[in-house]
Amino acid sequence: MSAPKDTAAPAIAPAKTGNVAGATGEPCEEFGAGPCSMVIFGASGDLARRKLMPSLYRLFRHKLLPDGFFVIGSSRTKYSDDTFRKEIYSALRSEAGFDELEWIEFAKKIFYSPVVYGDPASYSGLKKLLIEKDRAFSANGSCIFYLATPPSAYPEIVSSMGAYGLNDALKGWRRLVVEKPYGRDLESARDLSSIIYKNFSEESVYRIDHYLGKDTVQNIMMLRFANSIFEPIWNRRYVDHIQITVAETIGVEKRAGYYEQSGIVRDMFQNHMLQVLSIVAMEPPSIFESDLVSDERVKVMRALRPLSGADIKDSLVAGQYAGGESNGGVVKAYIEEDGVAPDSRTATFAALKVYIDNWRWQGVPIYMRSGKRMKSKFSQVKIQFRGIPHRMFRETIKTEIGPNALILRIQPDERVQLKFHTKSPGSRMCLRDVVMDFPYLEGYKGLALDAYERVLLDCMSGDKMLFVRSDGLELSWAFLAPAIEALEAKNDAAPDVHLYRAGTWGPAEADGFINRDGRRWGNYTGA
Ligand code: BG6
Repeated sequence: MSAPKDTAAPAIAPAKTGNVAGATGEPCEEFGAGPCSMVIFGASGDLARRKLMPSLYRLFRHKLLPDGFFVIGSSRTKYSDDTFRKEIYSALRSEAGFDELEWIEFAKKIFYSPVVYGDPASYSGLKKLLIEKDRAFSANGSCIFYLATPPSAYPEIVSSMGAYGLNDALKGWRRLVVEKPYGRDLESARDLSSIIYKNFSEESVYRIDHYLGKDTVQNIMMLRFANSIFEPIWNRRYVDHIQITVAETIGVEKRAGYYEQSGIVRDMFQNHMLQVLSIVAMEPPSIFESDLVSDERVKVMRALRPLSGADIKDSLVAGQYAGGESNGGVVKAYIEEDGVAPDSRTATFAALKVYIDNWRWQGVPIYMRSGKRMKSKFSQVKIQFRGIPHRMFRETIKTEIGPNALILRIQPDERVQLKFHTKSPGSRMCLRDVVMDFPYLEGYKGLALDAYERVLLDCMSGDKMLFVRSDGLELSWAFLAPAIEALEAKNDAAPDVHLYRAGTWGPAEADGFINRDGRRWGNYTGA
């Protein structure tokens, strides 16, 4: 069967140009999408309950869902429409701003149809329901199929959809949203793509990386390319190094089954960390258009200096949390978590040093770090500039004059900060370290969308800017393969996985790793 095309243009929005800019501080006009519906596979699971349905509910409350929208949950669990609605109700009622009357209206858009993922015949009920509701709601035949199941079910679902003709839009369009992980290495990612491409075109495949949906990640592009003061210094001549940190305080929670197979490098680096890096390091495209922005992001992936298996120990520090204190309580070690092997070597922390071999970034080290059960939860990019070339105050000021830094805090307490030095007021020439601080939401009067709301809306309106293209995805797997293989090697060449106490900044070796280069991690413990 040939892959059907995603042909229909979104009804209202020019899909490829991103959000419409509002005047300073004014709400930005959100895109409206044409009529469509959504089928969530894995609807009885965690992602649907915690992220997808709450996001759809918030979009509904803010009147951002397209006309005719309805959602069908589907999974192996044999719910009726009503039992599924009750499940969703219990997940939503603790939401800030939850409103019983609004819920009654929203619930009218929710349906359910069970399937057995690998059995195409079991999709007949789903297809019938989709056709019936599409007519009733006038959704124009356009539908998003969201894979929110464990990834092992993706191939079966996509093949069954193909066998049952669910991928074929008689009118409107069909889009397939694929959650991470997209494969567990390059080969399995390609295998998954080849199954998908039998049933969907690349144009209609939306690979989610929710970090790209974060407003403050998108703001990195705006900051860089809507200002003329940053770009001239955004290169090897002025930047000493870059740090990207995604620190979490949670542990593995109830996801040990997945995490034991994944570990931090697959879970965070292959996707979120490298995507953030691609935005920080990319060249400006000639126009802010989906494919051109993706081209530039992919070029960064292509320019990453290959990690070499032989000296991986110089570029990578791995860790695993031991017991300790986190979020005000005593917490277990990773190996004591339910579902974790007592001799597990799975890394829950990694620090990686990478280089980008191109004109702009030659010789600038990029330190990336992510871990679970760390001292505080924050994600940020730190651009550390070079020190002053000449110490003309050396006789007057005895203290070291440190380099300037630009902090782009992605979450929480979203802000942009420029660290620099001034003179301390008074009669003497004394140095004062100061921070020019911009809280991201200050002065904004509109609605702030979270990452899932943003990517769901973009998928409805056919804007692929914030999704991962297959070439970028394959490059990221290929780049990390030596690190993953080394970590999983069962011989002496495997890098150590250092234990770190929960509630700390990771293993001491991660500090040694950056300190050896004469640099220090930038940490954040709260506003
Ligand atoms: C997910 C990872 O993709 O991102 C999780 O699978 C991680 O392990 C989460 O906790 C972090 O996302 P955020 O938005 O909370 O920083």
